Amino acid sequence: MKPFRTLDDVDVRAKRVLLRVDLNVPTENGRVADTTRLERVAPTITEISAKGGKVILLAHFGRPKGREAKDSLKPVAAALSQVIKKPVAFADDCVGEPAAKAVADMKDGDILCLENTRFHKEEEKNDPAFVTELAKLGDIWVNDAFSAAHRAHASTEGLGHKLPAYAGRTMQAELDALSKALEAPSRPVIAIIGGAKVSTKIDLLENLVSKVDALVIGGGMANTFLHAQGIGVGKSLAEKDLAPTALRILDKAEAANCAIILPVDAVVAFHFAANSPSHAFGLDAIPA
Ligand code: 3PG
Repeated sequence: MKPFRTLDDVDVRAKRVLLRVDLNVPTENGRVADTTRLERVAPTITEISAKGGKVILLAHFGRPKGREAKDSLKPVAAALSQVIKKPVAFADDCVGEPAAKAVADMKDGDILCLENTRFHKEEEKNDPAFVTELAKLGDIWVNDAFSAAHRAHASTEGLGHKLPAYAGRTMQAELDALSKALEAPSRPVIAIIGGAKVSTKIDLLENLVSKVDALVIGGGMANTFLHAQGIGVGKSLAEKDLAPTALRILDKAEAANCAIILPVDAVVAFHFAANSPSHAFGLDAIPA
């Protein structure tokens, strides 16, 4: 038996399903530039819709301070509609009258996207009154936003205490993969981790070094580790003030017999701009 409930454990027909998804997609000039995340959540959306559930999408977009037009989910909802080849209605707020009316207008199988949850500061505070307002819109809560699940926000965590909670198919696949890799792995196990910041992943890194045989670190995070070891990273993204943390993680990895694999070369350009002429150098040969 699974340690969590999935869509196999609930009859969604005629239910209002508050579906937390990660629609935090890259955009260029207001247009969605990469639809990968939309494709990832498409199966859960279409399954609930096909089973006659009312799909009410909850998601954040960017890190707005209040309501900012550039962070509206409206264009993302339109792009999602193209990906899933079904109409996606849109409500200008995720709570209150606009949301309640849009939900009341839904028929079984319909899909509705609510406006950016982060337009309300209560979202990130996991404010109980805000959770209650969101919960009024649904009968059950399905979380399919694995990539936002490290945040205990109203729509990613609070709702799980208010409504019957289930994992969506993306969440299910991620949790299955994680337990396969970490609980009873066939060794050696190598974890590959990237992203901009060490600071948001310190616990994760410290936990992983005791579980895996090798940790491959890429992205901006790798620069923090390189800088900590005295290698110049120029103007590249790095959290230089976290050098002591990076060194501590390297020590822990050594004690746990976990190899840390960092980049051995770098693409270097004079200007940090698209199409800037660039060259690859070994780490010991990067010109100042
Ligand atoms: C992401 O894009 O990494 C997730 O959606 C989380 O976004 P956040 O870092 O702004 O919470």
